[in-house]
Amino acid sequence: MNEIKYPAIIIPQSQRTKGDLNGDKMTLDLYIKIIMIYFALFTSGLSYAEQNEINTNDNIDVLFNFGRPATTEEIKKWDLDVRPDGTGLPLGKGSVKEGEILYAAKCAFCHGINGKGGINGRLVADEGEEFPQGIIACGFECRTIGNYWPYATTLYDYILRSMPMNAPGSLTFNEVYALSAYLLYLNKIVPDNITLSASSLKEIVMPAHDKFVPDDRLEYNEVH
Ligand code: HEC
Repeated sequence: MNEIKYPAIIIPQSQRTKGDLNGDKMTLDLYIKIIMIYFALFTSGLSYAEQNEINTNDNIDVLFNFGRPATTEEIKKWDLDVRPDGTGLPLGKGSVKEGEILYAAKCAFCHGINGKGGINGRLVADEGEEFPQGIIACGFECRTIGNYWPYATTLYDYILRSMPMNAPGSLTFNEVYALSAYLLYLNKIVPDNITLSASSLKEIVMPAHDKFVPDDRLEYNEVH
């Protein structure tokens, strides 16, 4: 068996200098240089951080001389994540009818009338459109709320924090319930007379719910 003595990084044979008997040696020299430069930068960065203890607010002030710690009120405004099981859903409610009006005014010019054919992502699945199994490169073309999203609660979370794209954070909790209801209705997941709130939204089972599994493989290193 051929033992690999050095370096730990292996490159294809074709990348070695052609016709150069010292090909191996030259490649190794280059790697050593790269590693030395990397170390020099990394360790100097560390000692800089250590010397200045830049992870405390006081020292950030001294270092950059601008900004201030966020207030509890400000943090509360941004701390709005809704989990798949519905944890974090705020109080409020909204109907499909209310959502239809809001959608026409605030969303249709990017996502198209009825959630299709706009300049940005399609939000509504076509009749009978399947889960895009195995299609990796199709992006928003084949991944819609109706055929791809595993949780209705994520729709609420997404709209609340990021839509409309030109004014994220501008919608009220009730408006987000109404828009979620309307988009779920367009995807034929709820009827047109429904009013959604936290308790009813988290009960909705999406068509793609069973297409996802938690990644609990233990034979590989965990990567976060
Ligand atoms: C200025 C353009 C613009 C407006 C207005 C806008 N969006 Fe979006 N929206 C985007 C872009 C860009 C994305 C991310 C990429 C994509 O899906 O095209 C997106 C993504 C989304 C997605 C996720 C789509 C997916 O399957 O990943 C949802 C849901 C959504 N928008 C809902 C809304 C709602 C509801 C409104 C109205 C309140 C709205 N958007 C208004 C541009 C916009």
